[in-house]
Amino acid sequence: MQENEKRLKRKSPEARTSLMVFPNDTNDFGTMYGGRLIELMDMVGGICARRFTGTKAVTASIEDMQFYKPINKGDIIEITSSVIWTGTKSLIIKTKVTKEEYTEEKIICSRAYFCFVAIDLEGKPVVVPELLVESLTDKKNYAIGQEIRKRQKLEEKRFQIELKENL
Ligand SMILES: CC(C)(COP(=O)(O)OP(=O)(O)OC[C@H]1O[C@@H](n2cnc3c(N)ncnc32)[C@H](O)[C@@H]1OP(=O)(O)O)[C@@H](O)C(=O)NCCC(=O)NCCS
Repeated sequence: MQENEKRLKRKSPEARTSLMVFPNDTNDFGTMYGGRLIELMDMVGGICARRFTGTKAVTASIEDMQFYKPINKGDIIEITSSVIWTGTKSLIIKTKVTKEEYTEEKIICSRAYFCFVAIDLEGKPVVVPELLVESLTDKKNYAIGQEIRKRQKLEEKRFQIELKENL
């Protein structure tokens, strides 16, 4: 899609996966290794981003990663992602992780916001569809996305200073 073309408005798709936590997903005290969880969250978020944009999408940043409750070996986890905010070439995806132990109760364990940038085959950023915001939940999540973007802009300035001054 070109920048001056009228942008499509699209509802967020949902990407979702479930899996059982095995010993090779855990750390040396038997709970799920954070890096492995982030990898899975990034993958499900990436599927959601691709379904929404219809292009390739790369992870540009991960915001507000929360490890709220430990996940144990043998737990069943479910990872769900949806688009909560769109810019021009970027989008923010909310990814949540719940666990089930031995009942069907789903306990929230982790949540993060992944910022993806849509790219063409040469790796150049391209315009994304605009998010259709309808329900009250959509509106609340969109406001969170706006707040994250505002914070990112400040962090980006600090990062540029760090690069320049080799901090
Ligand atoms: C992400 C990437 C494509 C951005 O390229 P770029 O030339 O800096 O992009 P631009 O300056 O044209 O910005 C395009 C959009 O990306 C956003 N963006 C760029 N860097 C960002 C960052 N670090 N965090 C959040 N958003 C970012 C911009 O704000 C802009 O958003 P908007 O169009 O909605 O306003 C580039 O930095 C990159 O390739 N990074 C490596 C990605 C990667 O390897 N990820 C891990 C594996 S998937």
